[in-house]
Amino acid sequence: TATWLQGINVYLIGMMGSGKTTIGQRFAEALEYRYFDTDQLIETAAKQPVTQIFAESGEPVFRELETNTLQALSSMTRCTIATGGGIILKPENWGYLRNGVIVWLDVPVDVLYDRLQADTTRPLLQQGDLREQLEILDASRRSIYSQADIHLPITATDTPAQIATRGLTLI
Ligand code: S3P
Repeated sequence: TATWLQGINVYLIGMMGSGKTTIGQRFAEALEYRYFDTDQLIETAAKQPVTQIFAESGEPVFRELETNTLQALSSMTRCTIATGGGIILKPENWGYLRNGVIVWLDVPVDVLYDRLQADTTRPLLQQGDLREQLEILDASRRSIYSQADIHLPITATDTPAQIATRGLTLI
C-alpha cells in the first residue's frame, strides 16, 4: 500500500480521545513504519506523566517539550506519529508536521464524551463540565485541524479496522 509515500512520516492529529494511538498503531503496522506517540516520548524523557508536567511545570513548559519532541521526530522517516491534541496550536509545529502527511481524525464531541468520561489523564478536562469543555475545545480547534492534508470523518459505529482501512486508501 501507499508506495507513493516514499517513507514520509504520517502524523495523526485530532481531539483527545479521537483514536490517534489506536489508528496510528494500525497505520504503522500496515505501512511497515515505526510508531511513536509524542505524549509518551515526553513522559519517558521527563520521567513524569503529562498530568504532572501540567500541574508542576505548567502548560507552556509542556508545549515546549512537545515542540522539541515533534522536531526530533520530523528528522526521521518511516514513522507514524500520534500527536497530542494540542499540537496544532503552535504555528511553528505546522512547519514540522508539513514534512509528512497529516491526517485529521474527526470524531464528534458526543463520541469523545463517551470515551473520556472516566478519564483522569487529560489535564485540560479535569475542571468543569466535560461535555462543555470538549465543545469549547472542539469549536476553537476545528478550523485548525481542518488544515490537515486528509480529513477522516468518523462516526460512533466505525470500528478501528474500518477507520484504518479507509484512512489507508486516502493516504
Ligand atoms: C492535549 C492532549 C493530550 C495531551 C495533553 C494536552 C490537548 O493528548 O497532549 O493533555 O491540548 O488536547 P491526547 O490528544 O493524546 O489526549
